[in-house]
Amino acid sequence: MAAVSVNGQDVTLNADPRTTLLDTLREQPGLTGTKKGCDHGQCGACTVLLDGRRVNACLLLAVQCEGCEVTTIEGLGQGEQLHPLQQAFIRHDGFQCGYCTPGQVCSAYAMLEEVANGEPSDVTGDGEVRLCPAEVRERMSGNLCRCGAYANIVDAILDSAGELGQRGEAGQ
Ligand code: FES
Ligand code: FES
Repeated sequence: MAAVSVNGQDVTLNADPRTTLLDTLREQPGLTGTKKGCDHGQCGACTVLLDGRRVNACLLLAVQCEGCEVTTIEGLGQGEQLHPLQQAFIRHDGFQCGYCTPGQVCSAYAMLEEVANGEPSDVTGDGEVRLCPAEVRERMSGNLCRCGAYANIVDAILDSAGELGQRGEAGQ
C-alpha cells in the first residue's frame, strides 16, 4: 500500500511490494497514458513527474512513492484543454505513432523547469543556461523515439519555450 497524490488527487495504491510505479499507475487508477516501452530504464516512454522531477516509472516501486506527488501526462492538461507543450507537439508534428509522446511531453515539461532553474547540462559550458537545439537534444536524450521524430520534437519544445527563431550558433 502506498498513499500518494496522483494528478492532484489523493489515492491509495494497493501495490505488491515488487510492483513498479508504472504498472501500478496503469492498472489501478487506469492511467494508461504512461507507456511501457523497454521496462528497463532505457527508453523514457514511462516518464512521469515525482515531486516535480522526471523519473522513469518502470524503475521505481510504487511503495517507494509513499507521500509523494505523482504527475502523469493526464495531469498536465486541464480536462479538454491541452497543455501548451502538447499543443506544440501537434503544431510541429512531433510524433508519428505517438507511443513515446507522453513520456516526451512529461520529460520536456520537467526539462524546461530545470532550464528555468538554471540547472546546467553537459553541453551548457560555463555560461548561463540558454535553451538551444543542442541543449534540448542533450536534455531529452533519455527519451527515445523509434519513429525518429526528433527534429520536430526539438522544434516543438523550443516553440513551447518561446525560443524558436532565437537559436544560438552553439545550438546549430
Ligand atoms: Fe521505462 Fe523504457 S519503459 S524507460
Ligand atoms: Fe513513434 Fe516516437 S512517435 S516512437
